[in-house]
Amino acid sequence: MRPTNHPSLHHPLAHGPGPMLRSRAARRVLVAALGLALGGCGNSGRGPAIGTGEAWRDPLSPVETRVADALSLLTLEEKVGQMAGSSLLAVRGLYLTPPNDRVGIPSFAMADGPRGVSAGTGPATAFPVGMARGATFDAALEERVGEAMGQEMLARGGNVILAPTINLLYHPRWGRAQETYGEDPFALGELGAAFVRGAQRHVIATPKHFAVNNVENTRFDVSAEVSERTLRELFLPHFRRVTEAGAGAFMSAYNRVNGVYCSENGHLLREILKDDWGFEGFVMSDWLLAVRSVGPSALAGLDVEMPQGDHFDEQLVEAVRSGEVPEATIDDAVRRILRAKVRFGLVDGTRPAPDPSVIAGPEHATLARQVARESLVLLRNESGALPLDASRLRSLAVVGRLADTANLGDKGSSSVNPAYAVTPLAGLRARAGSLSVAHVGTDAPSAEDLRAIAEADAAVVFVGLTSAEEGEGLVTIGDRRSMELPEEQRRLVLDVARVQPRTIVVLEGGSAITMGDWGETPAAILMAWYPGMEGGNAIADVVFGDESPSGRLPLSWPASEAQLPPFDNVSPAVAYDLFHGYRHLDRTGVAPRWPFGFGLSYTSFRLGSLRLADTSVARDGMVRATVEVTNTGGRAGAEVVQLYVGFPGSAVERPVRELHGFGRVELAPGETRTVAIEFPARDLATWDEAAGGWRFEDLEYRVEVGTSSRDLPLTAALRVR
Ligand code: BGC
Repeated sequence: MRPTNHPSLHHPLAHGPGPMLRSRAARRVLVAALGLALGGCGNSGRGPAIGTGEAWRDPLSPVETRVADALSLLTLEEKVGQMAGSSLLAVRGLYLTPPNDRVGIPSFAMADGPRGVSAGTGPATAFPVGMARGATFDAALEERVGEAMGQEMLARGGNVILAPTINLLYHPRWGRAQETYGEDPFALGELGAAFVRGAQRHVIATPKHFAVNNVENTRFDVSAEVSERTLRELFLPHFRRVTEAGAGAFMSAYNRVNGVYCSENGHLLREILKDDWGFEGFVMSDWLLAVRSVGPSALAGLDVEMPQGDHFDEQLVEAVRSGEVPEATIDDAVRRILRAKVRFGLVDGTRPAPDPSVIAGPEHATLARQVARESLVLLRNESGALPLDASRLRSLAVVGRLADTANLGDKGSSSVNPAYAVTPLAGLRARAGSLSVAHVGTDAPSAEDLRAIAEADAAVVFVGLTSAEEGEGLVTIGDRRSMELPEEQRRLVLDVARVQPRTIVVLEGGSAITMGDWGETPAAILMAWYPGMEGGNAIADVVFGDESPSGRLPLSWPASEAQLPPFDNVSPAVAYDLFHGYRHLDRTGVAPRWPFGFGLSYTSFRLGSLRLADTSVARDGMVRATVEVTNTGGRAGAEVVQLYVGFPGSAVERPVRELHGFGRVELAPGETRTVAIEFPARDLATWDEAAGGWRFEDLEYRVEVGTSSRDLPLTAALRVR
């Protein structure tokens, strides 16, 4: 009997065999048993022979046996053929790699991307952007988003999704800020891993861009200069986390790290990702211009050149023949490619494409609305300006060009063709009932417009950024030129707030927008990010009080750009240290406009009874904390409890505090619940440059729990032994 010879059956990503296979397996088990009983040692007892293609095609053979079988059948040219995309242009929205029909190896079919599926010619569900999903602090919800996108990708004929983007937001002006989940490595890891788990129920996920990809305008060449400690403690923990979640692929970044292009950076790809973290998947390059060499890229551990083989072609064959690249390096790359094709069901066709009606169907639309709703962050709310009671008000002015614009985000690679899009105006009108809603559709209202706005019971003004202000480099506008609102919109807020005391500003954009002289003028400010195709309905849910806002800032919101480290998107090399976002603000003692983790609610909460299961935890153990949260207000609502750790007395300079856990909890009025937070103690180690490894300090770590990085009423002491 060879039960352990069938790991593919036990792999969580593999579907079980069909009835025919079951009976074939049963037959083989019977034959093997007979062989043993008769003292025989014939090949029939060992399963399909290697070197014939039989094992490769056999769903019951172990993955590595199947891979070895196919590899043994491929010529050098055929192996290299597996290591590059087929063409510059997508075919029906899918970037393909070539099949090998002789051996029976299927293609990868890839498409973006982070806020929905761009594959195929038809529309898809346009979810809120990554930054909005970061604001939900809801990993279970993000897993459902990953699953929905994975399903839509499969329904469109794809098998690899080029997502999630998990680059750390070092500065809010990064043009692709909207694609990622925020500034904190722990939060990035939690949400990225959740997306990977969800998406990989259907397709291969591709965390990107590995690594230290922080600017757009110089992205093809800039060298990010980082110490090994900064790399390990700040820029990589989330990539390690998605590796542990089983990510099937990685995409390398365009930029250089410490002078070496990421696509040929052996330290990143080979030493850290593959050797140190044990990543078993394959690494593909980013798109045009990402690969600069033949031999160095292959040797460094790049497995697939996308979107076509400009280097991984006959030049790579030649590099092997000349002895520059050992054939074992090619074998390792192809093994990774074949392994992914087996593990994710591409070879056996175990994942029949779902009915295309799932695409932007009611379930995914409802999910998109829930995500958008949970992502809205209420930043300011004076005198209970929000929520609006539609049954009591008579007239509402909805102001601004963006009010009736489907503002879904960047038009670069993350762009999604939405099945439909509910604009804020449409969403508010649909929920307004007898309340009369007048739209002032300009950013430069006339005196007459302002009179009408003044006479309304309240005004909701839509301002923010669009794809004209921020996006992917080269293909779209690139990095933001400023952190301020466009001038016309700044004036719009000031003008409306001057005449209408109940002015509610709804802001859109991919990250923080500084507020200069207008931030204190409106009664309320709601951050809506790029809220996806159901955004208008979600905004109405919160504005009219059907839901209490529960989004929390996944980034620090500075009062002015001067509070942050400089943003450099012109120099050929840019140095980064351990201190950005709240780490920088805590170190300099500066109060931001709103801290990381902040967000108001229509209700109120009280936190208490912080308990550590163990105040002295083994290095390989888990830190376990519980906190009680009570809804002390009169409405249902959700709170995000955050756990930070500080390192008083550390021998090296460490951040004042770092996020190491969070939990989102929904509570009815008066209800109390216990939130449990846990994380591995290993996360508290520091990288020792001299020793080249992780080291635990003999410290009394300070555990702080609260509702933002600047509101941490509960503390406890912890030791790691
Ligand atoms: C982007 C990637 C994207 C790829 C394919 C590149 O320019 O950087 O994020 O997945 O294009 O569209």
